[in-house]
Amino acid sequence: MYYPQEILEEVRLRNDIVDVIKEYLPLKKQGSSHFGLCPFHNENTPSFSVSADKQLYYCFGCGAAGNVISFIMQVENCDFVEAVQRLADRAGIVLPQAEYSPEDARQERLKERLYEIHSAAGRFFYGKLNSPQGAKALDYVNKRRISVSIQKKFGLGFAPNSRDELYRHLKGMGFTVEEMLASGLVMENKQKNGYHDRFYNRLMFPIFDVKGRCIAFGGRIMESGEPKYLNSPETIIFNKKRNLYGLNFARAERKKEIIIVEGYMDMITIYQAGFKNVAASLGTAFSSEHAMLLKKFVSDIILVFDSDEAGERAALRAIPILSDGGFRVKVLQVPDGKDPDEYIKHNGPLEFGKLLINAVSFMEFQIKCARKKYSLNDLEQKMLFTKEAAGLISNLSSPIERDVYIKQVSEETGISMSAVEEEIYNTDKKRSSDFEKESKQRRVRSYTTGAQIKTESLHNARGVLQAQKNIISICCSNSSICRKLIDIVSPEEFRDKVFCSLLKYVYDCCLSGRNAVPADAVNIFADSESQAKAAEVFSVKFDIEDTEELEKALNEEIKLIKRVYLDYLASNASSIEEIQKVIELKKELGSFEFKL
Ligand code: CTP
Ligand code: MN
Repeated sequence: MYYPQEILEEVRLRNDIVDVIKEYLPLKKQGSSHFGLCPFHNENTPSFSVSADKQLYYCFGCGAAGNVISFIMQVENCDFVEAVQRLADRAGIVLPQAEYSPEDARQERLKERLYEIHSAAGRFFYGKLNSPQGAKALDYVNKRRISVSIQKKFGLGFAPNSRDELYRHLKGMGFTVEEMLASGLVMENKQKNGYHDRFYNRLMFPIFDVKGRCIAFGGRIMESGEPKYLNSPETIIFNKKRNLYGLNFARAERKKEIIIVEGYMDMITIYQAGFKNVAASLGTAFSSEHAMLLKKFVSDIILVFDSDEAGERAALRAIPILSDGGFRVKVLQVPDGKDPDEYIKHNGPLEFGKLLINAVSFMEFQIKCARKKYSLNDLEQKMLFTKEAAGLISNLSSPIERDVYIKQVSEETGISMSAVEEEIYNTDKKRSSDFEKESKQRRVRSYTTGAQIKTESLHNARGVLQAQKNIISICCSNSSICRKLIDIVSPEEFRDKVFCSLLKYVYDCCLSGRNAVPADAVNIFADSESQAKAAEVFSVKFDIEDTEELEKALNEEIKLIKRVYLDYLASNASSIEEIQKVIELKKELGSFEFKL
């Protein structure tokens, strides 16, 4: 979906990036930039920079970057259109109806069809579960003690034991093969002479997005066999890392706290037990995207994991993601080697509720896990444990919280509180100097000079991308060089999609006598990832004063880009003629020279 460029430009101009960002975090002016603590990762030293001239932000710590629209997309976790709307409202601009580009329109239509296909498939599976064909599956559901109303609410279903019943059903409803394949519910036969269903003879769990639209399925085998759960593949409407099972129901509870579990059945059983603020990660590790998604709804998280080692590992991995995301995190490990579903079935909802109340803070959990690795009777091991614990405690910023755990570790090990404190202090110091070093390196990397790039580019694969960035950046700042390059480097030679579009934009501006504006260039893209990539290009300064130096550097860059492009053409050639053409071009490249 897009708005006319002029409108986006107006929205951007009337929302000064520094003013907008200041509404979210304090910024301090330092030279030509403003600095603050990055809202997108946890840090103690400001590495988030905002440039009033360029109207861009860039974080030297985590690499987040973009213009004012990208900032709103990231910080409010919303899409491009919503971000533009918010900023238009803020500036009192009335927006025209947004339009779709032809390609976006096609994509949007396909998405709509995929929602429809999933809802049709959901109804199909649901009907099967409640038909004679589904008797065995219904029996299974009842054995697992899922009540009828919960079956209905979660839309549980049954995929019949047949090759292509769903395929035929969907075909009868008017869905095309292309749509069915895109949904992941139907697959082409190995012999490529027909189609079959992905799911058969499985209990089906529809997966909903936060808006309650069915976007995928998980299917459980009912006997023993592998895989126990089969899930839909990722599609244009289903991204595992951006969805949580049951969140559509949980969010309706409007609680500030949510229980996160691993399994579908755990989620359902906990919900049925009356703790309705619960969601499950979809058979994948908990991700920072999950955290972003939850940020919209809750501030507190209780991680409930199985009592096995895998569960513990999963919790330990999720903790830093969540605590860096600014959540208050507690952990509950279900006792007796059970998972939450089994625990509730054995002990009842009340006992589970008690476990919830006794969930421990993530720090206590982390220290407990660390302790298990050491034998505290051994002096050497006791020291190692204390050091590890000190490292963990140093992640807490509140002195009061720190004190609680320092006391605990000291009591446990007999090592004095002041020694533990000293150890934490040293960790703090080391970490901030590591951080300084790291962010300095990043700064150097992104503001690197042409000469440095030259040697780098020949040795690493990122060199060609760096070269593309430099070409874009110099075209943007120097129109006479840009005019020359238009005849020499064509955007198609940039294999990177974002950089290709950027070069096109910069060329268009040059040809029509306009200035290329970095913050507008970012608006060519509607997704934050591409926007960040585009913004990063303009954080690169490619200003070499010396003409000779510059000419040399540009020569290297252009040759590298062309060489890589020709290799690409060669590997994709489908005829001898094409290959010969590439060989010819490669020869020409040998004597290529760019003159300023
Ligand atoms: N999972 C998956 N694919 C598998 C196995 C598991 O996607 N082959 C995911 C599912 O979301 C599952 C979760 O990981 O719910 C946890 O797996 P597991 O503990 O093995 O299953 P349970 O949730 O205990 O399932 P059940 O109670 O039905 O046995
Ligand atoms: Mn289970």
